[in-house]
Amino acid sequence: MNIPETLSYDDVLLVPSYADFLPAEADVKTRLTRTLTLNVPIISAAMDTVTEDKLAIALALQGGVGVIHRNLRPEVQAQQVANVKRYLNWVIERPIVVHLGQTVAEVQTLMNEHRVSGFPVVNGNKLVGIITGRDLRFCNDHNKLVEQVMTRDPIVENPPVTVAEAQKKFDLHKIEKLPVVDSEGNLTGLITVKDLEKHQQYPLAATDAHGRLLVGAAVSPQDYERRIPVLLDSKVDFVVIDTAHGDSRNVIRALEAIKGKWSLPVVAGNVATRDGTRRLIEAGADAVKVGVGPGSICTTRVVAGIGMPQFSAVLECADEADKHGIPIIADGGIKFSGDITKAIGAGASSVMIGNLFAGLKEAPGREIIFEGRYFKEYRGMGSLAAVQAGGGDRYNMQSGMPIVPEGIEGRVPYKGELKDFLHQLVMGLKKGMGYTGCRNIEELRQYKKFVRITSAGLRESHAHDVTITQESPNYSRN
Ligand code: XMP
Repeated sequence: MNIPETLSYDDVLLVPSYADFLPAEADVKTRLTRTLTLNVPIISAAMDTVTEDKLAIALALQGGVGVIHRNLRPEVQAQQVANVKRYLNWVIERPIVVHLGQTVAEVQTLMNEHRVSGFPVVNGNKLVGIITGRDLRFCNDHNKLVEQVMTRDPIVENPPVTVAEAQKKFDLHKIEKLPVVDSEGNLTGLITVKDLEKHQQYPLAATDAHGRLLVGAAVSPQDYERRIPVLLDSKVDFVVIDTAHGDSRNVIRALEAIKGKWSLPVVAGNVATRDGTRRLIEAGADAVKVGVGPGSICTTRVVAGIGMPQFSAVLECADEADKHGIPIIADGGIKFSGDITKAIGAGASSVMIGNLFAGLKEAPGREIIFEGRYFKEYRGMGSLAAVQAGGGDRYNMQSGMPIVPEGIEGRVPYKGELKDFLHQLVMGLKKGMGYTGCRNIEELRQYKKFVRITSAGLRESHAHDVTITQESPNYSRN
């Protein structure tokens, strides 16, 4: 029997090369799925102590994306997706309108009710004017009709709408609301100056074609039929078939069924082999998630005796996925920013992170004070508590049977706000790209110059022969 030797992130280092640019200039834009792109190649894990709406919003604002976990009822999960999608309105698709013939009094009631400062005025679907606080300021007769006080021939925008074009019109005409109309003059949307300002505040935000933040949601082969319709109503961008063993009949059947019924990007996983990757791609996966047992809270490898060290798994799966033009997500085992560089160097297009995000302010886990220091709860989705909360089918556990956990419950140091911590991760990756002379993610994916290191090499890589007196935001050994 020929037993191949396999490697973890700690077993390798990327070889430095000549660079003709500064690390900060490296471009970390990447492919999330066949069709979706991210500005930062980082995804937060579908875990109940990692990703709910708050963290998904914070991460997408900075260019990554969150996957809302599925230890939530479908309606609650869908509501969280809706909260993310509503956070950065760009073009409001169904704005509140007023009709010719309505009175000023009615308009004012609507303004108070919805706390908005103006409405497009329509006749049928046709835009005929706009009525705002400015039009009403000097109107004392509340019985007047909309058409007597509205501004006719308002400045409008035609699709496709771009931030730059809209900005020009806001600046030039000093307006606060910009209706969008089609070639026949029908109202199709509305842009407000407030939403535009939010966009400018987050230039790297990962957004859909309408400028709304991207967000994904986890489903399982057992529950996708109930979850997907409500998730789609909430405008979810993609779903993740979230299982511990993606190379299995029920996952492939679920994947085929989803792709057959809905037009929605589907990430499928997890796998750790070439064949597993190919089977998911042939069944229609838009991205494949790789990782069997590398997660910091995972005990799958020791409980079941299976798995594959993550660096080798990513290398092998990405090699297969590249033949089909499908991106790989390296899921689990990221301990430092340098592991992100290694995962992408091995061929992944993005990484999924649990542990490093669980301690963030925006993560949903409980805060814990232990021996005078702040921590947050972090638990595996196969841990006793998470399975009791509903996640057992990820590990094929049957309800009513005693739980056989594949994960642990623990705590991680409190890390403050996502924005600052993510900056450390992204700059760590960019530094790696600078040291290897890879200007963008594709160049890093193709770089493939690694060396294997020994345990002495690993010891040398870490801080050694010194007592750390001041912890830094991107390095700790707990
Ligand atoms: P990190 O290393 O970022 O890994 O904490 C997060 C990933 O670990 C997976 N996961 C689990 N794997 N038992 C497992 O074997 C578990 O209980 C468990 N919970 C999460 C998952 O892929 C996640 O993204």
